[in-house]
Amino acid sequence: MSDNKIKKIAVLTSGGDAPGMNAAIRAVVRTAVYNGIKVVGVRKGYSGLMRGEIEDMSPRSVSETVHRGGTILLTARCPEMMTSEGQDKAATLCKVLGLDALIVIGGDGSLRGGLEIAKRGVNVIGIPGTIDLDLDCSDYTIGFDTAVNTGMEAINKIRDTSSSHERCSVVEVMGRNAGYIALWCSLTGGAEEVLIPEDESRDVNAVINQILANRSRGKTHNLIIVAEGVGGSATIAREIEQITGITTRATILGYLQRGGSPTATDRMHASVMGYMAVEILLKGEQNRIIVHKDGKHTHVDMEEGLNMKKEYDPTMYNMVKVLAI
Ligand code: ADP
Ligand code: F6P
Repeated sequence: MSDNKIKKIAVLTSGGDAPGMNAAIRAVVRTAVYNGIKVVGVRKGYSGLMRGEIEDMSPRSVSETVHRGGTILLTARCPEMMTSEGQDKAATLCKVLGLDALIVIGGDGSLRGGLEIAKRGVNVIGIPGTIDLDLDCSDYTIGFDTAVNTGMEAINKIRDTSSSHERCSVVEVMGRNAGYIALWCSLTGGAEEVLIPEDESRDVNAVINQILANRSRGKTHNLIIVAEGVGGSATIAREIEQITGITTRATILGYLQRGGSPTATDRMHASVMGYMAVEILLKGEQNRIIVHKDGKHTHVDMEEGLNMKKEYDPTMYNMVKVLAI
């Protein structure tokens, strides 16, 4: 079965966990074993790699994981990887382990770590895994859909109580420096205003005027979404209450959005991306990131992909306002 050059690979998850990471690990392990490749799992991301926390993986070690949130390999943030000594050490350890490739599942930072290892002579394949959707080279990152659905369901519940009390609710959602989760939660949850880091002209006073205008149009309660990258939802809620006289409550959804069983969309992307990561290794590809672009799964050069910049598109942001009248 195995006349290919790839004999042994490792897989790790790094950065914030994201629902669907397990489905990606499962796809990597099973596709590899199917093709006669030995797979080891690195526990706790780059931190575990530095400490040699390695375990053999088999098709059975990923049984019963496709539906589970979090990551069975555990994850971590590893400050040591931010130094060139740490990056040298990580690459050396990959070589000592006899790896023909390292598959990194994580967000922008994790893939940048992967690129540093790649520059030191290890073949690295990246799989986008983060709820934030903030990887400019890919239209999709594993975990985003589950996080948005969790956010939307929480907003539905907040809406029940907010409308019963005729209050204003300010809901802060995750997303680090990106406003994607906030925009999607706003459109799917029916928010009337959203504050995102990408919108440099954002202004709490404009939000307050909108709340008052919506009340005069007959709305009896209000829903405002604040992206984590803007933050300050408690202060914003206080300001709204002071100026409008409308009772206002803030809710920070936080880590709730990072957990939970992955949606079908996340399982699908994770399975395809994990499968493809091994398939492209078999075809001799080196240092690539699996991406979803224009409706298709494909792959881009790791360095080029990480240098790509997505322009901020205000379409969704404007839509939130139009759909709120
Ligand atoms: P994410 O992968 O979700 O974006 P982080 O940005 O926290 O999460 O990155 C996860 C880990 O990846 C960091 O703790 C660090 O070990 C590594 N990393 C992040 N940025 C870099 C970088 N520029 N160079 C090397 N390693 C990095
Ligand atoms: O990247 C995923 C994410 O949940 C971000 O939305 C958030 O800013 C960050 O991770 C929180 O990180 P930590 O788990 O280190 O608090």
